Amino acid sequence: MENVNLTALERRKIIQQNALNMGINDEFISKLVDTFYDHVRKHDRLGPIFDDIIGDNWTPHLLKMKSFWSSVAMNSGTYSGQPVPVHRKLTNVREADFDIWLSLFEKTLIEIAPTEEVIPYFMERAARIAQSLQLSMFGVPELRQGRL
Ligand code: HEM
Repeated sequence: MENVNLTALERRKIIQQNALNMGINDEFISKLVDTFYDHVRKHDRLGPIFDDIIGDNWTPHLLKMKSFWSSVAMNSGTYSGQPVPVHRKLTNVREADFDIWLSLFEKTLIEIAPTEEVIPYFMERAARIAQSLQLSMFGVPELRQGRL
């Protein structure tokens, strides 16, 4: 309740200070994104999905993902894309691919996180976003196949 009357700028400052205290800064975000997509590209199942779309043009995707994660983790406000329509276009992605994505993301964090608390900090956010992307792509599990 104590944050209720904060301005957006004050809120941003608190989030950024909290992130910095954990060791999250632009340099870490950059390393996280580079290392994660190195793993993704080498993965038997996820690698071809990304390579089909991105091909040899990884630099813009990596830059976009760095601004995305700095907005999510540090409230930097630098990302202004629309992940839902982008993912809804990916017709060859299966629901189980999200589990692979999340476990590669966790593996990356375990390898490079500057402090222990950084791992759940990113994983909670990634899992929440993954869930909303999954819902937008596949719908609510209970409502499928006439189960409700
Ligand atoms: C199986 C899981 C996933 C697959 C296969 C996947 C694949 C992709 C691909 C191929 C793109 C590039 C699309 C393009 O440039 O046209 C993309 C973009 C993106 N992905 Fe994912 N993704 C997955 C999960 C996630 C998750 C869990 C997150 C966030 C936590 C995420 C965040 C994003 C963002 C922010 C973009 C950029 C969207 C934009 O253009 O603004 N993705 N993804």
